[in-house]
Amino acid sequence: MTEFDVTLRVRRFSPEGDATGERPGQAYWQDFRLQARPTDRILDALARIKGEQDGTLTYRRSCGHGICGSDAMRINGRNRLACTTLLKDLNPAKPITIEPIKGLPLVKDLVVNMEPFFAAYREVSPFLVTHGNPPTRERLQTPAQHARFEETTKCILCAACTTSCPVFWNDGQYFGPQAIVGAHRFIFDSRDEAAGQRLDILNDNEGVWRCRTTFNCTDACPRGIEVTNVIREVKAATITRAL
Ligand code: SF4
Ligand code: F3S
Ligand code: FES
Repeated sequence: MTEFDVTLRVRRFSPEGDATGERPGQAYWQDFRLQARPTDRILDALARIKGEQDGTLTYRRSCGHGICGSDAMRINGRNRLACTTLLKDLNPAKPITIEPIKGLPLVKDLVVNMEPFFAAYREVSPFLVTHGNPPTRERLQTPAQHARFEETTKCILCAACTTSCPVFWNDGQYFGPQAIVGAHRFIFDSRDEAAGQRLDILNDNEGVWRCRTTFNCTDACPRGIEVTNVIREVKAATITRAL
């Protein structure tokens, strides 16, 4: 397959400054030119840059196949996973911009501190809550009951939704769309017994009512989850308490 020239314009940041010690604590752009194939992914290009041009380039990745959720980044201004974004689906005639996801503290280059994101997720108790003695066999559920929340089981915690949300950027208190997706997963699970508790948490000042139905989260989700619709369902449930 024919290779072509491509430029990746990467947002760099280091508390210690660049290789020469200049620009400590300041973000700046750096261009990297390389030869690539149309079917290469952004993650492949970053690996080539790190291996062949600048070993200090820092980013997260793990599975390489759209499952672990660790390599969400802003590619040409839009949140995507580097491992599922092909060069041929971008315009390689112009520099491709690569930035860290927004709204979380920068650590280095494309790596952000995910702790505020995971703290919001923990707030909604994203696990099955039941009371009483455990049953002697599995907790049965009909296909229809499972279908009620199946979509939100697909979340890979990549944070592409939360870090594309203008409310989250401007108000660090908002739980963010992913926490609502995580809550939805259990609120509508017929086996769970803590839906009311989660709805109370999401009904407060930092919860679902901060959402302004901007749809950035839905556009950003690499798993195709209709995040804005999920939020609408949770908003309705906080009022009706009908699950
Ligand atoms: Fe990522 Fe989608 Fe889950 Fe948000 S809802 S964290 S965008 S997989
Ligand atoms: Fe934000 Fe998504 Fe609502 S982008 S404002 S959480 S619809
Ligand atoms: Fe795991 Fe991209 S590296 S989702």
